[in-house]
Amino acid sequence: METVVSGIRSTGNLHLGNYYGAIQNFVKMQHEYNCYFFIADWHSLTTHPTPADMHANVKQVLVEYLAAGIDPEVATIYLQSDVPETTELYLYLNMNAYLGELERSTSFKDKVRANPENVNAGLLTYPVLMAADIILHKATKVPVGKDQEQHLEMARTFSNRFNRLYNNEYFPEPYAFSFSENLVKIPGLDGKGKMGKSEGEGNAVYLSDSQEVIRKKVMKAVTDSGPTTENQEKPVEIQNLFDIMKVVSTADTYMHFDGLYNKCQIRYGDLKKQLAEDINLAVAPIRERINDIANNSEYLRKVAAHGAEKARESAQKTIREVREIIGFRSF
Ligand code: TRP
Repeated sequence: METVVSGIRSTGNLHLGNYYGAIQNFVKMQHEYNCYFFIADWHSLTTHPTPADMHANVKQVLVEYLAAGIDPEVATIYLQSDVPETTELYLYLNMNAYLGELERSTSFKDKVRANPENVNAGLLTYPVLMAADIILHKATKVPVGKDQEQHLEMARTFSNRFNRLYNNEYFPEPYAFSFSENLVKIPGLDGKGKMGKSEGEGNAVYLSDSQEVIRKKVMKAVTDSGPTTENQEKPVEIQNLFDIMKVVSTADTYMHFDGLYNKCQIRYGDLKKQLAEDINLAVAPIRERINDIANNSEYLRKVAAHGAEKARESAQKTIREVREIIGFRSF
């Protein structure tokens, strides 16, 4: 059975982008593959969260993984910080990760541009830690959104480089995976790029948002003054709303509004009302479970302990073998 690894950084509530880009695939893959789904709490340290936020955010992702339908009896769910073997592999991979290639990563360049006062070494080597997460379990499939494609390319580079250096075929090549033909990209509501937490309030719809909050956010989404010629191309902010509709609504609904747009008869208020309703339908069952699970500390403790044990078993085997390959041998 092929091995799957994926994780989400614990930086707050999960949003529709996390759900459709990643978690929905996790839930489908768990029965077909040997799956490890973890909470990337070490990755979240690049932005220096307070201890209280750190704990609350890790808990939130764990709760939402479970609420979305990942079964801890089927897949391995764990906290990255519960598996110290990750850091050892990260160290080995760092010895063969070069400054130039790390500086060229688009996510690094974006972060430098956004926060020039916080260009720390952890940020620079973020893709190395991510590669360690993946190849620690010798995973070949990594369900992620489109924004992670370059990180996977780097993971393949580091994994291949390790193999070449030690002249063996120990690590397989990991690839981004999605059930749909293309990797999913869920745009935000601000008329610009992807849905994300760092893009500002109102841009992202969270899985834990109430119906009322969803409605307010969607009604405020950026639109233009409407099409003026038939079948004209949609500007980015309108295309974004249609892109979200494509994943949350039925094909009929999508075609209905697409048809109205093309005939210049669309009313954005109607489109948004429908979109808010369909988003709510999609997240309502998850939202209900979030509240129940969040109050069950005993269950959360058990899930985390069980997951850590399973993940460490796999990780320790890899580290044992990697040490042997590198030349750390007992006398
Ligand atoms: N970089 C990923 C993100 O921002 C999170 C992540 C960390 C990850 N390690 C990973 C994803 C390993 C897949 C596999 O979404």
